[in-house]
Amino acid sequence: MSGVSEHRILLSALIILMLIGLVSAEYPSERPSVVSGQVVFTSACATCHGEKGNGSGYTGAYDFTDNQKMTGRNSSSFFLSITNGRQAMPPFVNRLSQSQRWDVIAYLWMFWADRDSAGKGRIIYETNCATCHGMKGDGAEISREFNGERAFDFTNLSTMANKHPSELFYGVTNGISGKAMPPWKDKLSESERWNVVKYAWTFQFKDYTIEITGTPIPSPGIPSQSNSWYSTPGGAAIIFISLAIAAGILYLFRKGMIER
Ligand code: HEC
Ligand code: HEC
Repeated sequence: MSGVSEHRILLSALIILMLIGLVSAEYPSERPSVVSGQVVFTSACATCHGEKGNGSGYTGAYDFTDNQKMTGRNSSSFFLSITNGRQAMPPFVNRLSQSQRWDVIAYLWMFWADRDSAGKGRIIYETNCATCHGMKGDGAEISREFNGERAFDFTNLSTMANKHPSELFYGVTNGISGKAMPPWKDKLSESERWNVVKYAWTFQFKDYTIEITGTPIPSPGIPSQSNSWYSTPGGAAIIFISLAIAAGILYLFRKGMIER
């Protein structure tokens, strides 16, 4: 056999392997479980990656608490590495079911989206973002106010599997042109924007509740694009006058009742 055809066979084999790899990157059929992910992690991964996820058990093992490393990665690429192995890391394709692999990924993200930061992010989210993105992050609310436009859905598993946290951070910082999503860079500090992204990241996983931490911050209000009549000074005046008239009527009504 000539060297050239040997190369061709090798190349075809490589392409087939890559295709198998791509096909195996399916998405989870339901929201992955952080709780069962922890069980998988403790038994199959902690010896190398460390109980705390910082890679302490094996030289060169990935550190899941490293902000720089985590914010530039996505779940799909993690899924491929866990399935097929990577350098010193063995493949888990035959050792863990597909849903166990997605569950353990959910747990890995929690080393980055720690409870304290996500808890601070929850307050920010519920005061500023939930009106459009919904309390559960599914983008359910926006259709009421913005001509049927739908806010980004943090529970869409195939979309989220391919998003990096840094992409979400970019959208939060700069807004999305042509969409109702406003920029937050002048309203929220950099750490507040990261905390809210960490909280929003947890919507794609089940059985993970984030308690609110820190003191509630007052809502800075939705930046620009505020076209609701009631948020203008004129609108506020109309509401105030109506309330005053209502109070007056109530007062006269009660006075009449007592005098009778
Ligand atoms: C024998 C030690 C070992 C075990 C066991 C192990 N890993 Fe790893 N893992 C590593 C090393 C080393 C790397 C870094 C590989 C590299 O250089 O890219 C790594 C990298 C990773 C990465 C990052 C891959 C990427 O795309 O950059 C993920 C995710 C990961 N491991 C998850 C897991 C999970 C989940 C388990 C358990 C199911 C596990 N690992 C078990 C050693 C291990
Ligand atoms: C006025 C409604 C509204 C508010 C308030 C709002 N969003 Fe959005 N958001 C949207 C819309 C609409 C989109 C675009 C959806 C699309 O691209 O189809 C979006 C998109 C996003 C995206 C996706 C970025 C990407 O990579 O595609 C993120 C992340 C996001 N919003 C986070 C937030 C956070 C965090 C807050 C609160 C600090 C917030 N949003 C407040 C309406 C809103």
